[in-house]
Amino acid sequence: QAAPALRIAGAADVAEWWPRLTAGSEKYTRGVVGIATGSHTYPGAAVLSTAGALAGPTGMVRYAGTARAEVLRAHPSVVAADSVAGTGRVQAWLCGSGIGTDEDARTALHDVLGTDLPVVLDADALTMLVDGSSADRLRDRDAPLVITPHDREFARLAGGGPGSDRVGAALALAARMHAVVLLKGDRTIVAAPDGTAWVNPTGTAALATGGTGDVLAGLLASLLAAGVDPVRSAVTAAYLHGLAGRVAAEHGPVTAPDVAVALREAVASIIP
Ligand code: APR
Ligand code: MG
Repeated sequence: QAAPALRIAGAADVAEWWPRLTAGSEKYTRGVVGIATGSHTYPGAAVLSTAGALAGPTGMVRYAGTARAEVLRAHPSVVAADSVAGTGRVQAWLCGSGIGTDEDARTALHDVLGTDLPVVLDADALTMLVDGSSADRLRDRDAPLVITPHDREFARLAGGGPGSDRVGAALALAARMHAVVLLKGDRTIVAAPDGTAWVNPTGTAALATGGTGDVLAGLLASLLAAGVDPVRSAVTAAYLHGLAGRVAAEHGPVTAPDVAVALREAVASIIP
């Protein structure tokens, strides 16, 4: 079987794929993204993933986790709901970053996977999948699924790897899970179930700091909620997140909140 065509994302692709604002844009028609992240232990992951979503193209972010006080204090424009099941009218969900693996977290994962909406699973949601949580719902769903493992999370999901052939390993997991796999790291890979693979040319090791993956996951979910194709959403999120890391690194040591702020500059530098 010929080696998969490995595509490299470019600014022109991202600029083409990013949804355009029009005179008729309205906060609901731009898309609403649901965020089920964070916990009492990791409220910061909820704030950071929401910050990533707010840098995206949607017109509204709804937060349905247990860190609502912290999220609303940091982002007054976010609308909070008590639970995933109690959140209406969203076009895509993010579940996982800092959510933990307790009963509430498992319920949130179950409810998110029970929708027929595009879903991003990150961090603890991937850990819960490995533990067999919501396996039935995962199997039965048709709507797009994007997972965002780093190497350790990948190894747990795939039962090993990714090893040196990151593209091949990511493609194999994508085919097995029927999901788009955004394999994070030095050269982030986006692999699709249909065998296409992209490598992200942006990024910096300065991103290797706590919470930056949460910001990426929020931006990714926002792109999905705005109606962008799952592969294009993952390629675009990785590209702009990597650019934001470089922008933030120009001002000194990078923290995840710096990346969330720099995302605005990165988006503005690419999207006309
Ligand atoms: N070069 C470029 N980018 C990098 C590099 C590198 N050397 N190292 C990390 N990154 C990027 C990744 O591509 C990713 O976008 O930084 C981000 C790190 O994401 P995570 O690994 O998810 O880190 P973080 O968000 O801090 O996760 C913290 O969540 O995923 C769990 O187990 C993880 O407990 C940890 C927590
Ligand atoms: Mg993470």
